Amino acid sequence: MEGRSEGVQLRSDKIPAPVPAPAIQRTRLQVWFIRVCSSILIWTCFVQLVAVSELWQPRLLAGLSNRLIGFTKVSFQVEEVPLSPPLLPPRNYTSNGFLKVSCNGGLNQMRAAICDMVTVARLLNLTLVVPELDKTSFWADPSDFEDIFDVKHFIDSLRDEVRIVRRLPKRFNRKYGYQPFEMPPVSWSNEKYYLKQILPLFDKYKVIHFNRTDTRLANNGIPLYLQKLRCRVNFQALKFTPEIEALGYKLVRILQGKGPFLALHLRYEMDMLAFSGCTHGCSKEEAEELKRLRYAFPWWREKEIVSEEKRSQGLCPLTPEEAALVLQALGFDKDTQIYIASGEIYGGWRRLAALRTAFPQIVKKEMLLDPEELRQFQNHSSQMAALDFMVSIASNIFVPTYDGNMARLVEGHRRYLGFKNTTQLDRRKLVELLDLHQNGTLLWDEFSVRVRLAHEKKMGQPTRRIVIADKPKEEDYFYANPQECLCERTSCDDLLLSGNSTTIQ
Ligand SMILES: *[C@@H]1O[C@H](CO)[C@@H](O)[C@H](O)[C@H]1NC(C)=O
Ligand SMILES: *[C@@H]1O[C@H](CO)[C@@H](O)[C@H](O)[C@H]1NC(C)=O
Ligand SMILES: *[C@@H]1O[C@H](CO)[C@@H](O)[C@H](O)[C@H]1NC(C)=O
Ligand SMILES: *[C@@H]1O[C@H](CO)[C@@H](O)[C@H](O)[C@H]1NC(C)=O
Ligand SMILES: *[C@@H]1O[C@H](CO)[C@@H](O)[C@H](O)[C@H]1NC(C)=O
Ligand SMILES: *[C@@H]1O[C@H](CO)[C@@H](O)[C@H](O)[C@H]1NC(C)=O
Ligand SMILES: *[C@@H]1O[C@H](CO)[C@@H](O)[C@H](O)[C@H]1NC(C)=O
Repeated sequence: MEGRSEGVQLRSDKIPAPVPAPAIQRTRLQVWFIRVCSSILIWTCFVQLVAVSELWQPRLLAGLSNRLIGFTKVSFQVEEVPLSPPLLPPRNYTSNGFLKVSCNGGLNQMRAAICDMVTVARLLNLTLVVPELDKTSFWADPSDFEDIFDVKHFIDSLRDEVRIVRRLPKRFNRKYGYQPFEMPPVSWSNEKYYLKQILPLFDKYKVIHFNRTDTRLANNGIPLYLQKLRCRVNFQALKFTPEIEALGYKLVRILQGKGPFLALHLRYEMDMLAFSGCTHGCSKEEAEELKRLRYAFPWWREKEIVSEEKRSQGLCPLTPEEAALVLQALGFDKDTQIYIASGEIYGGWRRLAALRTAFPQIVKKEMLLDPEELRQFQNHSSQMAALDFMVSIASNIFVPTYDGNMARLVEGHRRYLGFKNTTQLDRRKLVELLDLHQNGTLLWDEFSVRVRLAHEKKMGQPTRRIVIADKPKEEDYFYANPQECLCERTSCDDLLLSGNSTTIQ
């Protein structure tokens, strides 16, 4: 399961209710007018302050303007901007060449790949060009790196490890007839591969272009300093743009204002179902539609799929109806606030009827934000996914219904934030129990007990990654449990071996 097949999500999302054109124009005009007025006002204040502070006691006024800045921060709700630590001096090394990379897949697959590519550049003493993001996938998000991540922070905060440039020097442009050497590195490679196979290529080519980046670095057997660098990129260097952060924090604030909440990554989206061939609970027409879509996309290699077989192997995302039963069995009641962290659910809002009946406090971002606020993100699946990522990280409990890249990266991030509760559903076990419950063999209480028992130890507690030699796809994914980065302040061995669920703060 790699590449475009799985990572990206369909996020055309709910189309807002049609608004008559004059109304749009009026709203736009109003917004524009307010913007202009507030800009003028802020500028006037600022210019006056600067002028006055130059004339009068600078110190006193510096204090005052600081307080004013604090005040505007609150009123514009741009908060949670922790002071970044001072920049370290750049690492002094002789660059062996330029590494250009084109990431493939959805936001979270690309995120992990960016961490890996920085690490490879560090290992080989290369100069990394800011990664290109996938624009040609099924969902065609045209966003560039700087539309999603704070590119300046990315470059600056890593400068003590690796040199990163925004673009290749002109002399290496295709325009000038330069052909970079293009290749996909071998999947799941360790540092020996990069040192022995890739590094010598830089004697011949000054620029190498990795044209695929998913899972190119092994989970295990990588030196500790490189594993820690993967984490540093993931948890510190990759920050979303201020626009995405502001809206993401706003969503979090709205949800937290109403109390604790559960984020449900309901991966019941059309691309997922078409790709996986999971049609349990779909009508005949829907199953046909999904099949047609699967045949239309050449990079989904598996074409003939028996849905029930896949489901019984635990390879299907839970349906919304199944998710409702499982959450109830886990003990969540109708007062639980649930945020749906997903793109467009296949079958739309009506497909959530069972979930909505069981959990009336269910919301999604379109219900919490003004359509105007979401407008600039609407046609950018990765930017919408970034909002869901932020909310999922901040939630009290995170429950993914499928273990894709989003589920795994959020799980790892939550472990890093002090082993926050992530319920890792055992789908193989669950479909067995669900079927027994639905045909009347297992009554509710027994069903509920068995669902809870099956997940007692699957709530994101500290554990060691499972290593399976030569089967990297089947072992635990580094980014879902970056154990090397989780135990700075306590003894790793004690923590991980005992399965002690004490959180690390
Ligand atoms: C970088 O390292 C080289 C060789 O070790 C040294 O000659 C040079 O002065 C160093 N540059 C800086 C800015 O420290
Ligand atoms: C990278 O640079 C460091 C310090 O300049 C040097 O010790 C190391 O051998 C270099 N590694 C490679 C692969 O060039
Ligand atoms: C990557 O480069 C190789 C070698 O040039 C080529 O065969 C392959 O089709 C390219 N893959 C992509 C996804 O562009
Ligand atoms: C988003 O894309 C759709 C279809 O391509 C288009 O009709 C719509 O105007 C776009 N919305 C925005 C906000 O750009
Ligand atoms: C995680 O949340 C569930 C549901 O509220 C709870 O039963 C469980 O004890 C929590 N687990 C941990 C390790 O916090
Ligand atoms: C319920 O399903 C299980 C397995 O799916 C089967 O073994 C059992 O006989 C069924 N029970 C009834 C009452 O249909
Ligand atoms: C869990 O950790 C706590 C605090 O470090 C310790 O007191 C306790 O003995 C540990 N429990 C087990 C079962 O190791």
